[in-house]
Amino acid sequence: MELNSFAQFANLVSSRHSCRKYKDTPVDHDLIRTVLDTARLAPSACNRQPWSFIVLEGEQGRDICGRAYDREWIRTAPSFIIVCGHHDEAWHRPFDGKDHTDVDISIATEHICLTATTLGLGTCWVCNFDPATLSADLHLPEGVEPIVIIPIGYPDYDEQAPARKRKALDDILQWGVK
Ligand SMILES: Cc1cc2nc3c(=O)[nH]c(=O)nc-3n(C[C@H](O)[C@H](O)[C@H](O)COP(=O)(O)O)c2cc1C
Repeated sequence: MELNSFAQFANLVSSRHSCRKYKDTPVDHDLIRTVLDTARLAPSACNRQPWSFIVLEGEQGRDICGRAYDREWIRTAPSFIIVCGHHDEAWHRPFDGKDHTDVDISIATEHICLTATTLGLGTCWVCNFDPATLSADLHLPEGVEPIVIIPIGYPDYDEQAPARKRKALDDILQWGVK
């Protein structure tokens, strides 16, 4: 990878942050499709791609997502992507049966958030919602779980990325076996 590409990627990763205040401006469907097209390209265990994406917009989105996640800030978003995991399609590790749906969904979700950042759109991972309420409102069948709500829209503030706290690399890196 060229140094320039690395610098761009590093800049992208540090620009992505949780946006909790959005402008009213609607997000064009082509942009949402562009974002979701990169989620589609995410790797998944055994390439099972155990995911689907439900886009909600406007009042309907605010009602449904606000009911499952009752925070004023989420109601500022113009659009929402609900990332759904399909447990029956996902790879389960034969040794212990571990269901890899969450792992696959996480990668797809971060593709969405990073791509949105490149397009000037803000996002936030939201998992602290009531899954029963959301599943019922979305009429999700058995085996399909709403795993992440991603509000998406234009950030309603000027700074690129607020300061964020992270552990120091040396505190989390181990070379070899202790
Ligand atoms: C799996 C996961 C679940 C999260 N759930 C929520 C949530 O329910 N509500 C919320 O406001 N932020 C949520 N976040 C956002 C985190 O709080 C945020 O990513 C973290 O504080 C780091 O900040 P940053 O995203 O600005 O770098 C979640 C993030 C992840 C990865």
